[in-house]
Amino acid sequence: MSVVTCEIHGAVAHVVIDNPPVNALSQQVRAGLAAACSDIARQKDVRAVVLSCAGRSFVAGADIRELGQTPQEPFLPDVLALIENAAVPWVAAVHGTALGGGLELAMACHGRVASTSAKLGLPEVSLGIIPGSGGTVRLPRLVSMDDAVQLVTTGKPVAAQAAKTMGLVDRLCAEDVVKEAESLAHELAGKGVPQPTRARPLVAGPPVDWMAWEAELRKRSRGAVAPLEALGALRDAQSLGVVEALSAERERFLRLAASEEAAALRHIFFAERGAGQGLKTAQAEPADLSRVGVIGGGTMGAGIATALLLAGSQVHLVERDASAAETAGARVADTIAGSLKRGVISQDKADAALAALGTGQDYAALAGCPLVIEAVFEDLDVKREVFNKLDAVMPDDAVLATNTSYLDVNRLAETTRDPSRILGLHFFSPAHVMKLLEVVRGDATGARALATGAALAKRLRKVPVVAGVCDGFIGNRIMAAYRRDCEFMLEEGALPQQIDAAMEGFGFAMGLYKVQDMSGLDIAWAQRKARAATRPADERYARIADNLCEAGRLGRKGKGWYDYASGTAVPDPEVEKIIFAESARAGRTRRDFTPEEIMQRILSVMQAEGQAILNEGIAESAADIDVVMVLGYGFPRHKGGPMFMARA
Ligand code: NAI
Repeated sequence: MSVVTCEIHGAVAHVVIDNPPVNALSQQVRAGLAAACSDIARQKDVRAVVLSCAGRSFVAGADIRELGQTPQEPFLPDVLALIENAAVPWVAAVHGTALGGGLELAMACHGRVASTSAKLGLPEVSLGIIPGSGGTVRLPRLVSMDDAVQLVTTGKPVAAQAAKTMGLVDRLCAEDVVKEAESLAHELAGKGVPQPTRARPLVAGPPVDWMAWEAELRKRSRGAVAPLEALGALRDAQSLGVVEALSAERERFLRLAASEEAAALRHIFFAERGAGQGLKTAQAEPADLSRVGVIGGGTMGAGIATALLLAGSQVHLVERDASAAETAGARVADTIAGSLKRGVISQDKADAALAALGTGQDYAALAGCPLVIEAVFEDLDVKREVFNKLDAVMPDDAVLATNTSYLDVNRLAETTRDPSRILGLHFFSPAHVMKLLEVVRGDATGARALATGAALAKRLRKVPVVAGVCDGFIGNRIMAAYRRDCEFMLEEGALPQQIDAAMEGFGFAMGLYKVQDMSGLDIAWAQRKARAATRPADERYARIADNLCEAGRLGRKGKGWYDYASGTAVPDPEVEKIIFAESARAGRTRRDFTPEEIMQRILSVMQAEGQAILNEGIAESAADIDVVMVLGYGFPRHKGGPMFMARA
């Protein structure tokens, strides 16, 4: 069957794109649209055209698989020019999403009707490119330049109502969007030969402060170039003639499509969608997730409970005693209130979420929860006791999960009658925000437990990555490795602020030492102390972090790697003294490190540890490791992840 059909009903031609799943603008679709243009030009009775899509959405973008390849004819700009220069008006009927090339297509039409639930956007920058088919030239002829800059440089889609307000669509329609488009098409037909969007004047508005935008984007994009190129294209649209602006845009698009940044972003795009392969093969019925138990309502437990509540589950949260349960309930309420305040959720949703939360101290109350997630202190004995108690009260088919960061899931599983129902569900903080979920598969973890992990990730809209059991699973193990090497660099001559600056210069949102200060230094300290007894005598060990903790510097709440008295992280001579003393004690002559050398060392440690994780079968693929580092540890997305960089 053809992916584009053209049916003529009286004076109206209906062009329908049907290219599941999202009507991507593949070569066949472009060819189909070009053919429809020629067909319609031959039909003298046709006075207007309605362009719509079958399935759940309008065109959701280019065919991403084609992006890294040599473009195949017909090219989208040429197809859009055919539509735009047609003798009769084309009206786009948008439902679902019109993204990227999909929105460029709609903008090339002479009118746009959107369903009230539609979303429209130009997310190209998230793939390291910019609109390449006239999007940056047509957009500021429909919306103000400020709105255009916002849309193109952030890549964030807007809802139909906002699109209507800014002028991107002409009409909204709650029901039959094709019918409404037909009516608009008739109206436009009555006005003679339609005016191409590109022939319209730029929308009048206050002058754009290009310099301010550039400064803002440089800060925000952390080294990614696509947002700045997008800004440049819009500036061209303002300062050049239409033909020159279109060709300048195309030149930028083709250059970016072939860039390392775009390849990295495409890699991570597919890696996220392909993550958690091992879960896809788990042939079992997952536990029902409409009611979930959580044990421990501290930072993580409260965040996990919030994530579940916002996804529509009922949650029963168990704490150590009545007063801890009350505090935990208040913590969840605070987190939900925070989401409400940031405008992420509605008042109704917040109310419903709070009403679905129960708290207490009695484990028996968990018996009606098909899944229980434990997030108590990071202590094997405490956690084993929790699993013991759960084993006594939970029905046989309940799935039991631990949110442990480092502990041995197999040793926890031993404490229960049926270890096949135990798995690790390692969330990241804040758990209701962070997109990553490490699903830890113990030696005995069964298909039902894995299927439940998969179903949970889907329900919470998280990206699941399967990890085997080892100290720190995928992410924390890699972090522990480079953290150790960073301390060696401190001992050899670097300073914390230099390491942080190198990482931030590379594109991390925050350097390692600022992150450590933020999370607190005490937990890692306790872990190092616990492991001291089993550390091989000949293993290199830097004592700087221990000495810092012994000096009472435990992180951001007081002092840590930095001094926070002024409210921001300020390098502290006291810390330098501790570092210098340790270099001397270890007999190291301090030397200078360049930012490149620092980053090179961090990357090679990440890559070596990642390779070890792969060799041991802890991760399913190198791409999964990249997903973990990008979604869980602030690795710059536009670099694609450490394993991608190693291959490149
Ligand atoms: P936390 O100290 O903030 O909270 C732990 C909570 O567990 C406390 O509210 C405590 O009262 C409660 N608790 C302790 N024993 C209990 C018991 N027997 N029964 C019921 N409740 C009990 O700790 P946090 O940071 O929330 O960590 C919890 C778990 O999550 C740990 O295993 C940690 O390694 C892991 N984790 C922590 C992350 C983080 O960024 N903080 C990230 C991912 C995992």
